[in-house]
Amino acid sequence: MSYNNIESNFSSGIATITINRPNKLNALNRDTIQELHEAFDEANNDKDTKVIIITGSGEKAFVAGADISEFADFNVDDGGNLAAQGQKILFDFVENLNTPVIAAVNGFALGGGLELAMACHFRVASTNAKMGLPEVSLGVIPGYGGTQRLPQLVGKGRAMEMVMTAGMIDANEALNYGLVNHVVELNELLPLCEKIAGRIMRNSSVAIGKAIKAINANYKDGKDGYKVEIEQFGKCFGTEDFKEGTTAFLEKRKANFPGK
Ligand code: COA
Repeated sequence: MSYNNIESNFSSGIATITINRPNKLNALNRDTIQELHEAFDEANNDKDTKVIIITGSGEKAFVAGADISEFADFNVDDGGNLAAQGQKILFDFVENLNTPVIAAVNGFALGGGLELAMACHFRVASTNAKMGLPEVSLGVIPGYGGTQRLPQLVGKGRAMEMVMTAGMIDANEALNYGLVNHVVELNELLPLCEKIAGRIMRNSSVAIGKAIKAINANYKDGKDGYKVEIEQFGKCFGTEDFKEGTTAFLEKRKANFPGK
């Protein structure tokens, strides 16, 4: 599929999605959000795609937020719809994919940009990355899940301070906070994400999809995560991947998982 605001490339089991509006610091306008939905959906449905990496084009920004020019004249209903639609087709959508999604944070990740990174399964940052939720400086609050996912990742007190000050933290602070898992120089960012993806790909994609579901259940209202874990654990026993994984172990050979 071809897109106007993003690029999606596939190589050796990895789909790399690059947001490509460098002149607007990759700000998320409506079309970009829609295209991201389609690209994530396509990669998730492709049986050969084992890991998805999302990054921003250029050396300055991952994503500098939702496109402010698009919502400046919105009313109360428009604002609510913007958040609801975005959460549904992109942020919740990404979080709930079966395929692991790594955010390669290559510069500013602000507002909707940090929210997108936080919706991914984990984050790796380059040393020049800067992260924050500056919405209150615009008279609005994070609307793409930021008020929920930031405290989950960094704790309530740090999230409160970041949101209230609208300030930015650098990559090392984000590492200390647990917001990102690794920090490397910009030129090492994608290679490191690909290396981690390679380690993920050795394992059962089917089991990983079920693990994502079980881990996510801990953060969903009304869900008993332990119960979801039991269900997903049980389901693994009916999969070809389980047969192959256990047989390979007992035969002392490397597993060759049939996959998703
Ligand atoms: N929405 C729309 N356009 C944006 C944008 C956003 N969130 N972030 C950056 N841009 C645009 C700028 O308007 C500018 O466009 P122009 O060249 O047509 O005027 C271009 O991207 C480059 O940004 P600029 O502000 O000139 O770069 P900078 O290096 O001086 O500053 C930032 C970088 C990230 C500090 C600054 O762009 C910024 O504060 N962006 C908004 C961040 C934000 O509040 N995000 C949350 C939105 S809810």
